[in-house]
Amino acid sequence: MPIDLTAASVTEAVQKAFEGTADERVKELFSRLVQHLHDFTREVRLTGDEWFTAMDFLERVGKTCTPTRQEFVLLSDILGLSVLLDLIHHPGSGSATDSTLLGPFYVEDRPTAENGSDISGEVTGTPMFFNGRVLDSDGAPVAGARVDTWHSDGQGSYDVQMQDTLHGRLAMRALLTTDDEGRFWYRSVAPRSYPVPDDGPCGEILRAAHRSPMRPEHLHFRLHAEGFEPLITMLVRSDDPYVERDAVFGVRRSLVVDFVQRDAGESAPDGTRMDKPFQTVERTFVLARKEQ
Ligand SMILES: [Fe+2]
Repeated sequence: MPIDLTAASVTEAVQKAFEGTADERVKELFSRLVQHLHDFTREVRLTGDEWFTAMDFLERVGKTCTPTRQEFVLLSDILGLSVLLDLIHHPGSGSATDSTLLGPFYVEDRPTAENGSDISGEVTGTPMFFNGRVLDSDGAPVAGARVDTWHSDGQGSYDVQMQDTLHGRLAMRALLTTDDEGRFWYRSVAPRSYPVPDDGPCGEILRAAHRSPMRPEHLHFRLHAEGFEPLITMLVRSDDPYVERDAVFGVRRSLVVDFVQRDAGESAPDGTRMDKPFQTVERTFVLARKEQ
């Protein structure tokens, strides 16, 4: 290793130390990371105290992680890194529905449901009826598409955050399949805006910056169909006060929809005469064909 380095020459010396890396891509990643990290440190003239604060912060982020709490992912989210990745790889051109963040509450081992079923899992709340349609970019229905949906309850909590009261059951999530017309539909309870977990180190950043931890009310969707690019997306309630202040920057204008308020006594989309107020949401999703 070279000696007598300066604040200017140390960067190239460290990059050279990575030249034996067999994988070219890994070598490139480290080389560029060192470049940007060093440039940042020189630019802001980082002090020793600030470096120590950062190391202590990252240590606490690590110690906050558990199998159900990903504080590092949250850090990536609130710094806009997660959404940047999505925007780089899914810039949203063309006719397909825009994608956005998966979020931390997707569960692989979710129940399947028939169209029209109540997927609320006996969680109480304002009834919500969702009617969706999946089309290709020519407007033809995509039959047999697998559509995952998941959302919070009327207090903004997901089933995985309420395991004590649900006794380990999952709720407000299901895997549905589109019919021959590309339609899927279900009944559940209306979700609510909710804060990202702000009782850990990431919450300190949000408070220091006077940033809201809230995400606007939304429904998550993940769509798969043979011959089409998979789509991870979400629909956001148009009149939610946090639409333009999402703590993790995941809202796209094209994904904002009306949650229509209906009165008691009206009929639900499935024909049920409702004896309490309810909400209806509709949306068409367009999938992009996989390139050959
Ligand atoms: Fe969510």
